[in-house]
Parts: sequence; C-alpha cells; structure tokens
Amino acid sequence: MKRALVPGTFDPVTEGHLDIIRRAAKLFDEVVVAVAASAGKGPSGPLFSLDERVSLVEQSVGGLSNVSAVPFEGLLVDLARSTQATAVVKGLRAITDFEYEFQMAAVNFELSPEVETVFIMSPPQYMYLSSSIVRELAQLGGDFGRFVPDCVAQALAEKFAE
Ligand code: PNS
Repeated sequence: MKRALVPGTFDPVTEGHLDIIRRAAKLFDEVVVAVAASAGKGPSGPLFSLDERVSLVEQSVGGLSNVSAVPFEGLLVDLARSTQATAVVKGLRAITDFEYEFQMAAVNFELSPEVETVFIMSPPQYMYLSSSIVRELAQLGGDFGRFVPDCVAQALAEKFAE
C-alpha cells in the first residue's frame, strides 16, 4: 500500500493543485492532502482559516475515493512518519518554482531519506496559476472562476463581500 502526501498551504486550493492531486491519486494507492497551518505566511497570515482550507480541499476532491485531507503544523517529515506515507508529491510550474522546491526536497531528504519527493509537472494551462494570483483576481474583481472549483469561487466571493 503506497501512501503519498501532497502538501501545501492551499489558500485556496486551485485547479492547478487539483490537477496534481488527481494525477498523484493515479500513481499512489492513497493520497493525503496535507494542508499546512502556514501561520507565518504573509503579513496577516492566510486568507482562509486552516479549517476552511481543509474543508475546501475536501469538497473539491469529493469524487476521488483514495484522497483525503488533513491539517498539519510542524514538520512535513513528521506527518509522513505518523501517517506512514513514503512519498511527498509536489507540483512544479515554471522554472521559478525549482529553487524553492529543490531546497525543501533537499532538507526533507536530510531529515528523512526514506521519504521520496516526487515532482509532477504542471500542465501548460496552469503553469502561471497560483493561489495568490487567484486571491488578487478575486479581491480586484477579475474573472477567476475558471481557475478554481465552484465551492472555492463561492467562498472567495463571500470572503471579499465581507
Ligand atoms: O503551498 P506552499 O506554501 O508552497 O507549501 C509549502 C509547504 C507547506 C509544503 C512547506 O512550507 C512545508 O512543508 N512546511 C512544513 C514545515 C517543514 O517541514 N519544513 C521543512 C522543509 S523546508
């Protein structure tokens, strides 16, 4: 039984993330989407609470029977150990992702060499897509609907109507 983690902040989950999660779900028996608290991210932290981000991932992957979502704080390799996951799957977009992802994979390898990091290339249509771009479009009234599942589009609309 091969279990993989797909970690990230998912603030919020996008179609780009979902593409990677779906493809990981074909490669592994079980995929656990690990939603990081990432409290220190940005000046005021993530836009969505940890519970909201987990719930949006759960709603978005509802049709995939071998995918679940969990919140986590602390080290990713500790979560891998406690969930008995043997792989970490990350999406790679443009070359700009590489250095950051390379660093994280190297640190995780130092900490826990038995956990393999696997990269899946983003498809061309999502190469430029990020949660921060989606948040900015939502905040400034741009059309972001095609970049996120319906539940996320609704949650963003509600967030910025507040
Ligand atoms: O979506 P993101 O923000 O690029 O995800 C980054 C994340 C959450 C995967 C990364 O920051 C992470 O793994 N955080 C957990 C802390 C950790 O294990 N740090 C050591 C590896 S550098």
